[in-house]
Amino acid sequence: MTNLVLDVQNVTKTVRGRKLVDSLRFSVPKGQICGLLGPNGAGKTTLIRMITGLIRPTSGSIAIGGTDVHTHRPEALAKLGAIVESPIFFPYLTGSGNLLNLARLDASLSPAEQKDRVREVIATVGLEGREHDRVGTYSLGMKQRLGIAQAILGRPELIILDEPANGLDPMGIRELRELIQKLHDQSGLTFLISSHLLDEIQKICPQVVLMKEGRLVYHGTTDELRSGSESLEDAFVERMLR
Ligand SMILES: Nc1ncnc2c1ncn2[C@@H]1O[C@H](COP(=O)(O)OP(=O)(O)O)[C@@H](O)[C@H]1O
Ligand SMILES: [Mg+2]
Repeated sequence: MTNLVLDVQNVTKTVRGRKLVDSLRFSVPKGQICGLLGPNGAGKTTLIRMITGLIRPTSGSIAIGGTDVHTHRPEALAKLGAIVESPIFFPYLTGSGNLLNLARLDASLSPAEQKDRVREVIATVGLEGREHDRVGTYSLGMKQRLGIAQAILGRPELIILDEPANGLDPMGIRELRELIQKLHDQSGLTFLISSHLLDEIQKICPQVVLMKEGRLVYHGTTDELRSGSESLEDAFVERMLR
């Protein structure tokens, strides 16, 4: 058994001769909320697409809970819940209809258990009362919470959220942060959360991976990153200019 929920080993992605991700190496232990920070174009989504098995690394390997994503794809992805770019729903179905569709894929649960699980995650993300409305009528913040409900439905070990705050208003961002914190505190879930905005990350992620032009420029605590600079923002900018 490994305590590393995510292990990124020397991963490179080359597209038409360009290294979008370059020799990236870091790991995330169980129970951590890790930020993946970097300016637009740094390679965050490309990395996340490799972790979620959507594309293959050109070289290197990625393991989730000790299982290799590319050699043991179904087992590895069973341990993962993710929202890449934006969550995907059937807008003409209700929130609970969307979740039930997914829950039905889990043959280890009886239909009654599937329904219970859907009710449970709806309560967890705070969509009670709106679960029988069509998703097309949901606000962006509600869609984001439904996306998180989808991500946690199969009881994963690791949740990956790619720029989850994009497009949300300050209230929506705060609710999202509180939901992530609650999931972490109550279920011991491990998170990797990408953002190009420092502010979002620093409030919730004690650990951070900083990327620039496909490369890792810092991996450690947010506090340590800040030490020696006037502010975390200064530290971030200094790393980006270095
Ligand atoms: N399929 C692709 N083919 C070629 N270039 C790509 C592809 N996907 C992303 N890129 C480029 O790779 C770089 C990293 O993109 P991305 O991973 O989306 O960064 P981020 O998510 O950090 O903003 C960008 O310069 C982008 O234009
Ligand atoms: Mg991106």
